[in-house]
Amino acid sequence: MKGIILSGGSGTRLRPLTSMTSKQLLPVYNRPMIYYPLNTLLRAGIKEILIIIAPDHAGNYLNLLGSGKDFGAKFTYEIQDEPRGLAEAFIIGESFLDNDSVAMILGDNIFEDDFSQEIKEFKSGGRIFAKEVEDPKRFGVVEFDQKMKALSIQEKPENPKSNFAIPGLYIFDNRVVDFAKSVEPSARGEIEITEIQQRYLDLGELDVRTFNGQWVDAGTFESLHAAGDLAKNVLDKKMMI
Ligand code: G1P
Repeated sequence: MKGIILSGGSGTRLRPLTSMTSKQLLPVYNRPMIYYPLNTLLRAGIKEILIIIAPDHAGNYLNLLGSGKDFGAKFTYEIQDEPRGLAEAFIIGESFLDNDSVAMILGDNIFEDDFSQEIKEFKSGGRIFAKEVEDPKRFGVVEFDQKMKALSIQEKPENPKSNFAIPGLYIFDNRVVDFAKSVEPSARGEIEITEIQQRYLDLGELDVRTFNGQWVDAGTFESLHAAGDLAKNVLDKKMMI
C-alpha cells in the first residue's frame, strides 16, 4: 500500500492567508495543516508517500518535509499544474503507484480517528468513508439504504439525498489509475473523485464505512478555526509527528 497526499489547489477561499503560502501549510494550532493527514498515513504504517502540490509555494514543502527521512518515510513530490480534479492524482501518480494499492488523503482533511485497520486490512476494490454533516452540499454525498448499503454517490448535490458526506480519505486498488484516465471532466472542469467511487459502486466493490470521531475539511475560515480547536483539544497529544 502506497500513500498519496493531494495538496493542490490555490486556496482562494482562504485569501489573503494563501497569498503567502499554500493552504495545507497554514498553521492548525501548533502544526502545519499537512502534518495531520500525513500523521494519518504514517500511523497506518505507510512509508512511501507521494505529495502532490501546486506550483506556487512548492519550495515550502521541500523545506518543511524534505526527503521524509525525519518522518521515517520516503517522500516523492509531483506538481499538479492546474486544479483539474482530485482524480487526476491517480494519473499523476501512475508510475509512483506501479502496481500497488493506494490510500489517498487530502492535505486539508483532518481526522480524529485512527484508520490503520481500515488501511492495513484492505485487499481490493474501493473503500471510502461517510460522516453525517449539517452541510452535505459542500461535499461528495453517499446515499444508503436501510441496511447501510451504499445506493448512490453525488458530488456537491443541490438536493442531497442524505446527510452523509464522503471525507477526503480514499483507499483503492490499482485499477483506480485506469478508471481515472477514463473519467470525463464535470461541469466545473474537474475529473471528480466521486466518478471513481461510482465505478467501484457499479462493480459492487465499494465498501463505505461510517466512523465516530471528528473530521474537518479545513478549506474555509470557519472550518480552519474548528480544525485548530480539534487539534488543540483532542489531537495534540495523540500525534506521532
Ligand atoms: C472534495 C471532493 C468531495 C469530498 C471533499 C472532502 O471536495 O470533491 O467529494 O467530499 O473533497 O473534503 P473539494 O475539496 O473539491 O471541495
